[in-house]
Amino acid sequence: MTICRRMFSTSRSILSHDNPLGLPRSGTPPSFPRRRGLPQKRTIRDVKKVVAVSSAKGGVGKSTVAVNLALAFARRGIKTGILDTDIFGPSIPTLLNLSGEPRLDENNCLVPLTNYGLKSMSMGYLLPQTQSDSPTGEVPMDTTPITWRGLMVTKAMHQLLHSVSWGPLDVLVLDLPPGTGDVQLTINQEVIIDGAVIVTTPQDIALRDAVRGFGMFQRMDVPVLGMVRNMAYFACPNCGHQTRIFSHGEGHQSHCEDHGVVAECKRLGVDFLGDIPLDAQVCEDADRGKPTMVAEENVEKSVRRQAFLDVAEQVANKIGLDWH
Ligand SMILES: Nc1ncnc2c1ncn2[C@@H]1O[C@H](COP(=O)(O)OP(=O)(O)OP(=O)(O)O)[C@@H](O)[C@H]1O
Ligand SMILES: [Mg+2]
Repeated sequence: MTICRRMFSTSRSILSHDNPLGLPRSGTPPSFPRRRGLPQKRTIRDVKKVVAVSSAKGGVGKSTVAVNLALAFARRGIKTGILDTDIFGPSIPTLLNLSGEPRLDENNCLVPLTNYGLKSMSMGYLLPQTQSDSPTGEVPMDTTPITWRGLMVTKAMHQLLHSVSWGPLDVLVLDLPPGTGDVQLTINQEVIIDGAVIVTTPQDIALRDAVRGFGMFQRMDVPVLGMVRNMAYFACPNCGHQTRIFSHGEGHQSHCEDHGVVAECKRLGVDFLGDIPLDAQVCEDADRGKPTMVAEENVEKSVRRQAFLDVAEQVANKIGLDWH
């Protein structure tokens, strides 16, 4: 009997979506066997490299960058998967236009859902749909007792990390939720991460959180591959003029050497991986489940797509993927 079969001991309820990961929702909070010391970091089965896309700040474009990065790898023939580690606000099902229950294989491991040549797994595939499904149109409420959240997250994360049947993958991209909380801690403690990509926007307030995220990886001995500056500038669709809307000390006119994302990278000793433009099309592509990397595959000289490709190429080279 494999590890996976033991973990998914309640496979019937997984398939019925009743309680996908066997997480208790009432009664006394669950107790788990006490571990001595910290959990042992290990590799994910069948996965050669793991890259985490992260930022302590919410809404800066982590999922957008993560999915385009993963698609850039996949479109280059690199066997790639993406794991949505945002338990409470999964984005990957929308970004990849995927839904429905994952099958269980003969070892009771979850079989990833695939689109555009990219394998994916997300809590969003496992939990009951909570949006406008209600016949009364009621807005659903998360009734999970707050004190349980940490435990549930830890258990769900553990299973998402170790009970998915990825098949051989060259790289698995982890789309992290915002913050430096339970999910980040569990992942950092349980899995060997080959590198972290930190996404930020140009504003001071986002950059401060990005630096906080950098500190977390440093403390966890995870190499930081570099920072991506998302929404770096707005390119006018008519004349192409670039405006640094969120600029702080980095604008064309007010360029300030010791300020902003590039300067912060220098200070921290990490690489600046590049700019992604603020572009309505990037958002539209994401919303309709066809990220820019795929949507503009046949568009000649797509600045948006090229921006993602440039970041992907650097990441690939840094972790030793075969980028050609
Ligand atoms: N470069 C961009 N240009 C335009 N819109 C963008 C860009 N990057 C991201 N967005 C949009 O910004 C919103 C937030 O992006 P996204 O969900 O990727 O952020 P996030 O950091 O993953 O958020 P969360 O912290 O909630 O996980 C989305 O609507 C997305 O389409
Ligand atoms: Mg996200």
